Amino acid sequence: MIPIKKISLSDEDVKSAEEVLRSGWLMQGEKVKTLEESFAAYTKSKFAIACSNGTSALHLALEALELKPGSKVIVPAFSWISTANAVLYANLEPVFCDIDLDDFNISIPELEKLVSPEIKAIIPVHQFGNPAKMKSIISLAKKFDIKIIEDAACAMDAKEGETYAGTTGDTGTFSFHPRKAITSGEGGMVITQNEAVAKKLRTLRNHGFDNEAGEEFEISGKFTHLGYNYRMTDIQASLLISQLKRAKKLHKKRQEIAEYYTEKLQKINWLKLPQEIPGTTHGWQSYVCMVKTAEPTPENTDKNKHLRDKMIKALETAGIQTRFGSIAIPTVKYYATRYGYTPGSYPNSYIAQQTSIALPIYDTLTEAEAEYIVKNISEI
Ligand SMILES: Cc1ncc(COP(=O)(O)O)c(C=O)c1O
Repeated sequence: MIPIKKISLSDEDVKSAEEVLRSGWLMQGEKVKTLEESFAAYTKSKFAIACSNGTSALHLALEALELKPGSKVIVPAFSWISTANAVLYANLEPVFCDIDLDDFNISIPELEKLVSPEIKAIIPVHQFGNPAKMKSIISLAKKFDIKIIEDAACAMDAKEGETYAGTTGDTGTFSFHPRKAITSGEGGMVITQNEAVAKKLRTLRNHGFDNEAGEEFEISGKFTHLGYNYRMTDIQASLLISQLKRAKKLHKKRQEIAEYYTEKLQKINWLKLPQEIPGTTHGWQSYVCMVKTAEPTPENTDKNKHLRDKMIKALETAGIQTRFGSIAIPTVKYYATRYGYTPGSYPNSYIAQQTSIALPIYDTLTEAEAEYIVKNISEI
């Protein structure tokens, strides 16, 4: 079976984790600090705060904004469920915004309709590693003093010009889940250019404990906030430090595979391929196509889904694992029940959920495997 993603840890990655395992110190320590410094340098940002996963990164980033409970936060309607869940964890209200089917990112015309003095934050997602249109988002946010958290869970290596995804908002969040560019099984990171926000994030991730607060040797004065145990372990950090050293190479390999797929699959007229927006660098966390045997409209969704599902089955039979792209959050049972949304509430997000398909993309995917995948798609 060609899996959707294969994790290939090098001997050096394993050695680096083994050193920690034998060191007698497993929890958050020097390795986490080193990773934070390396990650900040990698993304050219001032501060990086490691945490337990991409979801806790979003939760921390939202709480660090210190918004009034119930404040409204715009979230793309097509994303992993955490983007919206984190808003609810922080006692805030998600306001969904539909996406553009060209890049699966938040739609600027739709966002324009939603921004108002009531909106206190926006969470643009750089979906599958394709940079969201940050310039337009920032200019809309400025009108009403709206904060921005970039959900860059899938967007390591993604850039607009030379600016890394995650660095232009108030904060940017990352995930180190196994499907991401580098992984520690579970793991997350928040980056920011603001020292006060960085300090708050560090406090919140560690039970609300601020070592610099209160009197020396007076423990009570140091628990300044309602915090969480969202720490990363040194074992996880050691794996990430090691992979970060070759992250650029891993990204180049994913770029090559994406180029190969695009070159070979463009003649298939029922597939809409992902595009790299001119002037940007796609992170290629995933290569997500849309099946469009008919125009991608709500009326044609069942027809397109039928072919998408057939494609998943045919590839599975050929030993190729695929996945759906992401989810139309408002239509999942919990959100649909809580807010009464239907597939028609955010039509593009629903179309994207029903008709998208992610192909295997990772550094150790061989040319022969990529060729085999293309051949099998061409024969559907
Ligand atoms: C866009 C997006 N946001 C947040 C997350 C959550 O990350 P994690 O699984 O590390 O909690 C993911 C994970 O897939 C994601 O794709």
